[in-house]
Amino acid sequence: MDDLTIARALHVLSIVHWIGGVALVTLVILPGLTRSVEAAQRLSLFETMERRFGGQARLSTLVAGASGFYMTHRLDGWDRFADPAFWWMHAMVLIWAVFTFVLFVAEPLFLHRWFQARAARDPEGTFRLVQRMHTMLLTASAITIAGAVLGAHGAFY
Ligand code: HEM
Repeated sequence: MDDLTIARALHVLSIVHWIGGVALVTLVILPGLTRSVEAAQRLSLFETMERRFGGQARLSTLVAGASGFYMTHRLDGWDRFADPAFWWMHAMVLIWAVFTFVLFVAEPLFLHRWFQARAARDPEGTFRLVQRMHTMLLTASAITIAGAVLGAHGAFY
């Protein structure tokens, strides 16, 4: 077993934890709260539940990014970014960059406060917005995972 294989295992493990968590939040927790909790309480209850996962997701995105860039270096794959057949490499970096920005910059600096203020004015609409954003991110992540497995095993060239 070489270092590339270990990096690949760490990469997949961190993706399973991180995107699996996003799937649970999007497909189970958010619809459950919509059905059984008053609109005014939903956002604060959701943030309490998601806070614990946020810390774990930060660690997973760090491991996914480090192992991903390491594999790119080991495969000498930087020129892939100039080839449209490797669209799934761009998709991986894009998804990673969006989550990194949200988890490390937007949430601690302004997103949390912005949602609180918006929820005070319009709890129903704000929760719908949270749900829509999670659905979009999960859909894009699922397409990226499928594309990356197909691409890494030679489906696009
Ligand atoms: C900085 C961000 C990332 C970089 C640089 C990166 C890079 C890589 C590289 C170089 C590979 C190996 C490709 C090959 O064997 O030809 C890979 C595989 C893979 N990546 Fe990423 N990745 C990143 C983020 C992500 C994200 C966010 C996801 C999921 C949403 C993801 C999912 C996968 C999957 C599923 C594989 C295929 C594993 C396999 O079947 O062997 N990666 N990645």
